[in-house]
Amino acid sequence: MLERKKKQPALSGSQVAMADREYKRFSDFIHSECGIKLPPSKKTMVEARLQKRLRSLEMTEFREYCEYVFSSKGLDEELIHLIDVITTNTTEFFREPRHFEILNKIVLPKWAAEHQNRRALRFWSAGCSTGEEPYTLAMVFSEFAARNSGFRFSILATDISTNVLQRAAQGIYSEDKSSGINYEMKKKYLMRSKDRSRKEVRFAPEIRRSIKFSRLNFMHDFKFKDSMDIIFCRNVLIYFERDTQEQLIRKFCDNLTKGGHLFIGHSESLTGMDLPLSQLAPTVYTRV
Ligand SMILES: C[S@@+](CC[C@H](N)C(=O)[O-])C[C@H]1O[C@@H](n2cnc3c(N)ncnc32)[C@H](O)[C@@H]1O
Repeated sequence: MLERKKKQPALSGSQVAMADREYKRFSDFIHSECGIKLPPSKKTMVEARLQKRLRSLEMTEFREYCEYVFSSKGLDEELIHLIDVITTNTTEFFREPRHFEILNKIVLPKWAAEHQNRRALRFWSAGCSTGEEPYTLAMVFSEFAARNSGFRFSILATDISTNVLQRAAQGIYSEDKSSGINYEMKKKYLMRSKDRSRKEVRFAPEIRRSIKFSRLNFMHDFKFKDSMDIIFCRNVLIYFERDTQEQLIRKFCDNLTKGGHLFIGHSESLTGMDLPLSQLAPTVYTRV
């Protein structure tokens, strides 16, 4: 009885506690797999968020969960859930509006003039979370296409988390979430739920079809057959250490056409990094 109590100290009610050495194993693993640094100060958050996983697996101790995660079966099956628990997915439609002004006023007119409809513009939302960013771009590009006949585009949206990707692919959002989209665009690109009590909207099929969602972990090597014209990697770098950030941006540069653009989040910075990029505007870069 005493032994059991020692192994399973209560946090609140039925919550299970994680030993420091278990937390260290998890945080080292997350760091090597996803590049995300989990300092000791995040232990309470990780512990709390993993309670639900323990319950689903009918486990009563983190020791048991640890053994499972680090077994070969666990690595295959549990990594996806572990990542879902650890990553922060905050996002919104038209987040950081200045970026869309730069796209509309500078980047898209220049690209269209240079390419003269010879091919579709290739865009990548890297770290797309629940999809608000790629859907925003699908609307921005569709509006540009309405003003510039012959303009075509393709959108790739990737994330490490299968959970957010599944939600993104559905293209369904609460009416509250869609408040960042202006009335004109809502009318054109969103459909209301038939059941009005649900207070949900869904993107029209042509918008949903314009985006390809796919899982990609930035810590793995990636090289696309066709390089991108525009990459948005916003509010993702903040989770990584500086060396990891620089290595990742270098991989983005290898996948960006010369003259193409990289957009990062407003709280992120590439200052002091040795990269083949020149600055077009704060947080907007051109591949040189
Ligand atoms: C805060 S969201 C940013 C969403 C969107 N770009 C925006 O600015 O609103 C960060 C996303 O990065 C993803 N992410 C974290 N580590 C990753 C990794 N190693 N590889 C790919 N995506 C990762 C997370 O799953 C999360 O959805």
